[in-house]
Amino acid sequence: MAKNPYTNAPPVPSSPNGSVKEPFFGFIPRKVAAKDARRVMGGDINPFTKQPFTPQYKKILEVRKKLPVYTQMDEFYRMFNEHQIIVMVGETGSGKTTQIPQFVCYSDLPHTRGKLVACTQPRRVAAMSAAKRVADEMDVPLGRQVGYSIRFEDMTETGTTFLKYMTDGMLLREAMNDPDLSRYSTIILDEVHERTLATDILMGLLKVLARRRPDLRIIITSATLDALKFQRYFGLKKDKPAPLFQVRDRAHPIEVFYTQEPEPDYVEAAIRTVLMIHRAEEPGDILLFLTGEEEIEDACRKIKLEANDLLNQDPDSVGPLVCIPLYSSLPPQQQQRIFDPAPAPRTPEGAPGRKVVVSTNIAETSLTIDGIVYVVDPGFSKQKVYNPRIRVESLLVSPISKASAQQRAGRAGRTRPGKCFRLYTEKDFMTELEEQTHPEILRSNLANTVLVLVKLGIKDLVRFGYVDTPAPETLMRALELLNYLAALDDDGNLTPLGAIMAEFPLDPQMAKMLIVSPEFKCSNEILTIVAMLSVPNVWLRPVNKRKEADAAKQMLTVSDGDHLTLLNVYNHYAQNMHDRNWAWNNFLSQRALAEAENVRSQLQRIMERFDIDLISTQDERTLYTYIRQALVCGYFMQVAHKEGEKNAYLTVKDNQVVALHPSCGLDSRPDWVIFKDFVLTTRPYIRTVTAVKAEWYVHFILSLLGSWIDSCGASHAGFSNTRRTTSTLVHSRMARRNAHCKRSPRNVLVAQGRSQMRSMRGSHCGTMRALQAQVRSRWAKEMLKILLSP
Ligand SMILES: Nc1ncnc2c1ncn2[C@@H]1O[C@H](COP(=O)(O)OP(=O)(O)O)[C@@H](O)[C@H]1O
Ligand SMILES: [Mg+2]
Repeated sequence: MAKNPYTNAPPVPSSPNGSVKEPFFGFIPRKVAAKDARRVMGGDINPFTKQPFTPQYKKILEVRKKLPVYTQMDEFYRMFNEHQIIVMVGETGSGKTTQIPQFVCYSDLPHTRGKLVACTQPRRVAAMSAAKRVADEMDVPLGRQVGYSIRFEDMTETGTTFLKYMTDGMLLREAMNDPDLSRYSTIILDEVHERTLATDILMGLLKVLARRRPDLRIIITSATLDALKFQRYFGLKKDKPAPLFQVRDRAHPIEVFYTQEPEPDYVEAAIRTVLMIHRAEEPGDILLFLTGEEEIEDACRKIKLEANDLLNQDPDSVGPLVCIPLYSSLPPQQQQRIFDPAPAPRTPEGAPGRKVVVSTNIAETSLTIDGIVYVVDPGFSKQKVYNPRIRVESLLVSPISKASAQQRAGRAGRTRPGKCFRLYTEKDFMTELEEQTHPEILRSNLANTVLVLVKLGIKDLVRFGYVDTPAPETLMRALELLNYLAALDDDGNLTPLGAIMAEFPLDPQMAKMLIVSPEFKCSNEILTIVAMLSVPNVWLRPVNKRKEADAAKQMLTVSDGDHLTLLNVYNHYAQNMHDRNWAWNNFLSQRALAEAENVRSQLQRIMERFDIDLISTQDERTLYTYIRQALVCGYFMQVAHKEGEKNAYLTVKDNQVVALHPSCGLDSRPDWVIFKDFVLTTRPYIRTVTAVKAEWYVHFILSLLGSWIDSCGASHAGFSNTRRTTSTLVHSRMARRNAHCKRSPRNVLVAQGRSQMRSMRGSHCGTMRALQAQVRSRWAKEMLKILLSP
């Protein structure tokens, strides 16, 4: 046979009759048996590229063959070929994430039918890392046949990619525009035990979709043994649960140790324990769980210092130690370091080296690190909690659940018997820890989720088939916010504005702000601000250079608000040609800035799709004012007012006493501020804060409530005065608005506002509307009282 002129590869061997041998010859989708799949995997030709397999492929295949999932391939294919929905449980590291999607591809043959196989992950890191590993395992370049899709980063190729790892949030976004998810032949919801918001909603959707699409296969995988709950949930008939595929694991025994007394300082105790293991225990790597970036970097530094001291004091009995941090905002190349081997001994006869990985709970199930023998578990993780009453969502360091503790311990016994050191007492473990971590849907702000659900056409939010139903109050709060933002009308229907808002992968507040920004002639700037708010912290503050870093930050600070400062930073970065050195010299993270640039261009594309103009006012003096006014349109629910004592603010909507976060760059204490986050650490803080004027706020509320206030009989002398002046302003604004644009979303917004007011005047309303009206009148009264008080 002739050499293929288009590739440098050697010719593909041909069969006796001269035709090219197709490895999948005779395969019928979903009738494939394990022995056939194994034959192709163990063959010489890659069935997806028709190129010969590389030696690297064969080497990895030998490793894969030892994974528990691989050894159960026959059982898997029997079950997969027969059932539409499978629930799968197995220990972390048994091969669920990397192997099952490949098995499915060998049976679905999605590449021959223009379909895709999706595997969802709760975390971006896991989606990227799994896709990379699986691309290697399948001997294809990442981003071609195997790719990943995470928010603001699409590493797939239309028409070529047939196996896609993606965050659960991305699949949910796709469902908004294609409720049948018709591109997918099989959907694997991985790590459902994490019970993230998006995974929970996807479970509800897929349960219904399975009836509409009998050809769709669904696999639900979980690391822990709450399988029966999911089996029942996905049972197609009432008393017939979905079948369970249980990965039989060959884990080694793990010895668990507790402390005798509670530890007053868990970080200090953790460092002590790691060093104790390094000094006294057999060779083997250590995994320490801490709660967040700062804590982890700090601990790594301390461990390294002390380990070096040990090595200098006693070079014969302790080996070298490397300490590797792991958290989700770390760049991917650095995350890959967890797979590096432990350091070699310093001399051929010297003590062996040891690797210590200090990680957030992403090492609990999302990423598997081989070679871990010792686990140090202080018993804490950062968890999101939401209080709908004061509508505050915060990340709190909280005790983990028993299930988490067990999962953490399980990381120790993967390759040989392991040890787990729990830095709490056995009694606390038995009596204080909850059985399971609460699903995120029960502890989150649901504004975004509700917008997505409404866009998906879910009419009855209360009776949507949740695995665990969220509190009605949380749903109410979400509806209320979306209604104020004019994304939903008073009957809970999606407005045209809401439909556009849902297209932006942003919080509804930010989406709204972006959509209305052309009206304030600052959409260029708001786009930058939104992009900067969507990436990790850009400020670097190395421990030994805090002063210099703070001084550099001061130079870039705009005194009227942190949002303006972010804009300023980005503009300087752009003026300096995106220069790495400029960023470095100014103590800025070039990676975060580059990410902001990418996010900005992606959001810009969505704006163009909806005809949202990119404009900047030519008048520099008013630019910052316009920007701040646009900010009010998105963040009007997150407003605080100065209260007596210096640095104390009171949030308007919920009456929380808060302070400006130390990172805040305001040089004075303005009466009114809007803020992006409420954070609860040593005390409640508001973070990313910008000064606003009360009158802008009054405008906004009045244009929102409009004539409704008349109908509820608000009669306040001061108020009617304010009303008159502001309504003139509102009118002139509207006139300007209309003169500028005929068909853009801002007109939609105006129309929306009007119809909203009209419908509010009607007094016959359903329960939900009545409730909403109640909340609204309470809010309006409180707000006006504060605004109009002298
Ligand atoms: N990025 C990677 N680099 C090297 N090995 C990996 C990588 N990801 C996974 N592995 C290997 O594959 C095995 C199975 O991992 P995975 O499929 O993620 O298991 P599970 O999903 O069951 O927790 C791991 O134990 C590890 O040996
Ligand atoms: Mg996994």
